[in-house]
Amino acid sequence: MPRLPSIPDPPARQRFRRTLLAWYRRKGRDLPWRRTSDPYHILVSEVMLQQTQVDRVLPKYHEWLEKYPSLTALAGASAEDVSQTWRPLGYNIRPLRLHQIARESVARFDGRLPSDEATLLSFKGIGAYTAGAIRSFAFGQRAAIVDTNVARVLFRVFVHTGDIKSHAMKKHLWEVSEALVPFKHTFDFNQALMDFGATVCTARNPNCQACPLKRQCLSYPWQ
Ligand code: ADE
Repeated sequence: MPRLPSIPDPPARQRFRRTLLAWYRRKGRDLPWRRTSDPYHILVSEVMLQQTQVDRVLPKYHEWLEKYPSLTALAGASAEDVSQTWRPLGYNIRPLRLHQIARESVARFDGRLPSDEATLLSFKGIGAYTAGAIRSFAFGQRAAIVDTNVARVLFRVFVHTGDIKSHAMKKHLWEVSEALVPFKHTFDFNQALMDFGATVCTARNPNCQACPLKRQCLSYPWQ
């Protein structure tokens, strides 16, 4: 197995953060979950966005929050009703997971979500990605996230060779994300990483010519 490169050093981290944040201020999309820090709204948006494109999520996100305005309201709905509301989004295990998280939050925390990592991870249905998203977007903590978009961006910029799906690589990409996440602007930085992966550093046909990171990217010379 090829050796993994080391974690980017502080100047490389700084350069990446600055470039990405500057790009996000110019090109980032204005999306409703970027204007909230409500943990429940963040949870709903992130669970919806994990397997569904933004334009399909938008109407459902609004409908959902109107129908179930809080974790307590969601917990009080029937599983049948919740599945029905979700249906067109597909991957239908997701509404049941959300429903279960809502019920657990009511049973354990009076209908609120906790902010610390260990307690979030103790919920059935909250994994490392969702815990990082809730901590950084809702509670402003310096928490890393890695989903498929983020993994692809970090792999291309900082690794370039090897198997992106291997366990060792996943662990490495989490470490890279943890090193990169800034102390300030955590919310924007993590949103920017996801947006950049969704709109520039796409899985097929990435737009390398327009990429502001090309001079820092280990994969760019091969494009
Ligand atoms: N995919 C996952 N989370 C997202 C977010 N917050 N914004 C856009 N796309 C996403």
